[in-house]
Order: sequence, then C-alpha cells, then structure tokens
Amino acid sequence: MAEASAGLSGVVAGRSAIATVGKGHGLRYRGYAIEELAGGACFEEVAWLLIHGNLPTAAELDAYRERLAERRALPAAVRDMMRRLPDHAHPMDVLRTGCSALGAVAPVVDSAAMVDAADTLLAQLPTVIGAWRGAAGGAAAGSLAAHTLVQLGAGPVTPEAERTLDVAMTLYAEHEFNASTFAARTAASTLTDFHSAITAAIGTLRGPLHGGANEAALDLIRSFDDPDAAEEGVMRALAEKRLIMGFGHRVYRDGDPRSPIIEACAARLVAAHGGAEMLAIARRIESVMRREKGLFPNLDFYSAVVFDQLGIEQRLFTPVFVIARLTGWAAHVIEQLADNKLIRPTADYIGPDDRPFVPLSER
Ligand code: COA
Repeated sequence: MAEASAGLSGVVAGRSAIATVGKGHGLRYRGYAIEELAGGACFEEVAWLLIHGNLPTAAELDAYRERLAERRALPAAVRDMMRRLPDHAHPMDVLRTGCSALGAVAPVVDSAAMVDAADTLLAQLPTVIGAWRGAAGGAAAGSLAAHTLVQLGAGPVTPEAERTLDVAMTLYAEHEFNASTFAARTAASTLTDFHSAITAAIGTLRGPLHGGANEAALDLIRSFDDPDAAEEGVMRALAEKRLIMGFGHRVYRDGDPRSPIIEACAARLVAAHGGAEMLAIARRIESVMRREKGLFPNLDFYSAVVFDQLGIEQRLFTPVFVIARLTGWAAHVIEQLADNKLIRPTADYIGPDDRPFVPLSER
C-alpha cells in the first residue's frame, strides 16, 4: 500500500471547478484572478460567482442584494437561544451553535434547495453574532459588509470601512481544499444536511492553525512597542522554535497573492486614521520572517491590522472569516453533491499485529 502523506500534503483529494490556489495560476475564483475581483467586484458579486458559477448581471446582483437584505432576521427560537449563550462564550462556538440551531429549525437536505439555503445562511450569520451581542435585530440596510460591521459592533461604519471589509471578505471567500472546506465536503459526501456540513466547517476553522491565525497575529503585533522590539522578539521566538502566526502556507511556496492586497488596505487605513507604528511593527516582523526563514505573510497577518483599524473586536476576527468563507463552503458542498462519492480514504496501519486476546480475569 502507498505510504501516507503527513497532513495529506501534496495529495490531490478530488476534482473541483471552483478555485485554483497557486500551481502557477495564482488565486482564481472560477477563472477570475483575485486581484481583479478584489479591485473591481463587490463581495455579493463574488458570493454569487462562487455559488452560481458565473458573475451576476446587474439585475441579478440587485435581486441578490435585496434577497440577502430581506433574510437577515433569525427565527425567534434561534434568536432567543443566541441571547441565552453567555457573554464569555467563544464567538466561534456561538456561530457553530447558531448554524446548527438554524438547521434544526429549518433543515435542508435536498441538494436542489442548497443554493437558496446558502443565501439565507449568508444573510443570517452576522445576525447570529449580533443576537448574541444584544445588537438590534437584522434590520440594517446596505451591503453584507455593512450589515456585518453593524452586527459585530464595529465602527464607525463609513463607506471606506464598508468597502475595506468588502475587499477583505472577497479575499477570505474561497481557498480550494483547505481543512474547513474539506471537512464540509466530507460531511456533504455522506448526504447529510446543509447546516451539518457548514457546522463541521465552522468547527474546523476555529483552530489556530487555520482560522484563528488572524487573532493570534494581532496578539503578536500588539506585544511589541516598536519595530526594534519586534525584531528582537521574533528572533527570540524563532530561536525557541515557536510558530509565528500569520506566516507560511501549506500550498503557496513563494507568497500569498492575497497578502499585498490586504496590506494595501491596511496602509490606506493607517494613512487616513493613524496607527503608523502598528503597521511599521508588522512590516518589520515580515522582513525578519523573510530574512530568517524565507517565510511570507499569509492573508491573516495584515488582516489583523485591517480588522483592528475597522474597530472589530479581536475575538470577532475569525467570525468575519466564517461569514465570508460560507460562500466557498456552500459552493463546495453543492459541487460535491452534484457528482457525489462518499469520501472515505484508508489509513496506513502502524499499530501492533496478531496479539493473542487475554481474557479480563487473566489481565
Ligand atoms: N512560524 C515559524 N516557523 C514556521 C512557520 C511559522 N508561521 N510556518 C512554517 N514554519 C516552519 C516549520 O516549523 C518548518 O520548520 P522545520 O523545517 O525547521 O521544521 C518549516 O517552516 C516548514 O513548515 P511546515 O510545517 O512543513 O509547513 P506546513 O505546510 O505544514 O504548515 C502552516 C503550513 C500554515 C500550518 C504553517 O505555516 C503554520 O503553522 N503557520 C502559522 C499559522 C497560520 O498562519 N495559519 C494560517 C494559514 S492560512
């Protein structure tokens, strides 16, 4: 039998027409370069592209925006449940529980209904956090980015903040067979319901090696007073073989194409609102990591600066990732079901062989 690859690294685990990550193509969603999407499309266009397969027409986009705005409110049972969760709960646990509860109230098993279910859940996820925080119900007008800022209690919600979060959400929307997407596809392959597949993905994204890296990156940047202290601290961490969150990537080897885009967002915010020292610290960390390890920042690193500048609470950084990535997860669940085969690999068994059974009374 073939030897197992640690962490399935380098294993081609299925076929997909949704995104290319690296491999000479950079990052593309359904064939469109991320640079062009981030520069020229709004998040709702990107969500539609991922879930429906093509860019929307102007009429489709208007109708989509309207639909998303109409569906923001939660069923009363879910809203009440979110309000009862403790303030100290982890927001990712809140989202995971909220998603699961929405599936209990309105389960979606038929694959033909999943596009519609994805739209509804996309509109509702920010409200799940809002209900838990005690924010006003799902009535805010405007884009999904604006709705997200309001429900997360970030602000002020200016056109600049809205556009910046919109770009960040485009960058976070999809990334091929990453751990959470693969979890969603694996769950979907059993023909489970839509919300179970997404709940599995949220739980998988919660870990610090995946979604939690942007929160950890902010801790790192904030732990230094100036760029020189950052250089010294990172050198010490590397000497102690500690991981520096927000750096490195399983698939990209030369750089993350999303990083320059989010760094430019950070630079624009800092130029307009102050915070130059924080950006200088981040940039010094980047140069030390490149020099010492040949490692580059991934999307999470400068996202930490951007989200902080937007007034998003640190513990709510990963939930923003969830709201954006729901579009990619949904696209993958729908794609998996369109040509389904149960995902069930085998293991390279390394345990003991042929042990004679010893009855309990003789052990
Ligand atoms: N900080 C310090 N060293 C790092 C590192 C980081 N962020 N990322 C990788 N390395 C080191 C590893 O320790 C390893 O060193 P070694 O050869 O001396 O053991 C080497 O670089 C290769 O790393 P490897 O573990 O093979 O990479 P991977 O493909 O398994 O891991 C990540 C990819 C993303 C899990 C890893 O880079 C990481 O943990 N990054 C931090 C978490 C993060 O930012 N996650 C978000 C990903 S989008």
